[in-house]
Amino acid sequence: MDWTSRRSTALHGEVIVPGDKSVSHRAIMFAALADGESRIDGFLEGEDTRATAAAFERMGVVIQTPSPSRRVVHGVGLHGLRPADGPLDCGNAGTGMRLLAGLLAGQAFDSVLVGDESLTRRPMSRVIDPLIAMGAAIQAEQGGRPPLRIRGGRRLHGIQCTPPVASAQVKSAILLAGLYAEGTTEVHEVHPTRDYSERMLAAFGWPIEFEEGWARLQGGHRLRATDVVVPADFSSAAFFLVAASLVPGSVVCLPAVGLNPRRTGLLDVLRLMGADISEENRREQGGEVIADLQVRHAPLHGIDVPLDRVADMIDEFPILFVAAAAARGTTRVRGAAELRVKESDRIALMARGLRALGVEVAEHDDGADISGGNIGGGAILSGGDHRIAMSFAVAGLVADAAVRIGDCANVATSFPGFIELANRCGFSLDSTTG
Ligand code: S3P
Repeated sequence: MDWTSRRSTALHGEVIVPGDKSVSHRAIMFAALADGESRIDGFLEGEDTRATAAAFERMGVVIQTPSPSRRVVHGVGLHGLRPADGPLDCGNAGTGMRLLAGLLAGQAFDSVLVGDESLTRRPMSRVIDPLIAMGAAIQAEQGGRPPLRIRGGRRLHGIQCTPPVASAQVKSAILLAGLYAEGTTEVHEVHPTRDYSERMLAAFGWPIEFEEGWARLQGGHRLRATDVVVPADFSSAAFFLVAASLVPGSVVCLPAVGLNPRRTGLLDVLRLMGADISEENRREQGGEVIADLQVRHAPLHGIDVPLDRVADMIDEFPILFVAAAAARGTTRVRGAAELRVKESDRIALMARGLRALGVEVAEHDDGADISGGNIGGGAILSGGDHRIAMSFAVAGLVADAAVRIGDCANVATSFPGFIELANRCGFSLDSTTG
């Protein structure tokens, strides 16, 4: 599927973005392992999160869909999963595969985890190594790539560790294995990452101690069914925050967006660049802070992105690169080498795409310098990366001529209905299926 995005007039209205991907994955996992029936409201109907739900169904968990974005999960208890009748397909989802690796390492049965072409290129040693240190038996392909073959029936023991990369997925995989381990599992982080697993474990009644950059739990307890309300995904809202900032005359409201502080680095960075974004009706919902975000057009200028904000906006760099390309002056990003091992090499693909639109970009191993000013028209490839496709759709709104974006089908992994929502508030975005 290819898209064409064209220059638009002012964007207006309310944009209700779908549920948070990280929270939706975890809600299915913890509800599946709990005793009793949990309701999930605001579940993301994306391909990634549906793949996670399907994996648990294949392991014997009954999951009902009373209406779109709702799930009722009939938990089977910590030891109630059954072996699937073949490999479990995590699709495009690094979160699905890495968290499942931790959880399946503690089961009595063997499992195999597979993914799509992009996921099959992504590094898994970062989860395999600490899990093996806990006593797990996991085999990967050369270079620590999927498929992952996980042997069951292992006795796991708790560890104390500080993962070398800042990663909520790695932290969560270790904690999930820790549920099945003897003794104490403790994770320290150099840069604190999103703490949804910790919060949700506590909500499901598992004794856990945690604070910024640190979490500790012991094996041998049980999870109690709990209802989960999923906030709107900040990472999906991010495209509209930048779009409305860039297009003159725009005023867009994004209701009930999750503002977990480990996710909102882009808010701070856009404000440093001159963006006009206000938070209204700040409140708590299901243990997460949410607010209605109101964004108005404002001229942006380039900045040096503060190093201490990088981990808190790790999924938002593709759209930040577009904001930088349209801003006055140069924006410098460093300390973001992780972008090279996301759904694509996001530094390389964004640099290539922006250059194809006439923007000057100097690539670095761990970031880029983007000389802002004018965005031209042209054709770019998303590399099958959902966030790159949506970012260039935003670039098209302020480009001199049409921006054609190849290979956009994977937007459905995180943001089903993006085109319709975008066009409703004023985008000029067409899709063609080749
Ligand atoms: C996620 C953690 C981040 C993020 C991903 C979702 C999670 O990945 O990029 O989109 O739900 O834990 P890393 O843990 O690799 O940083």
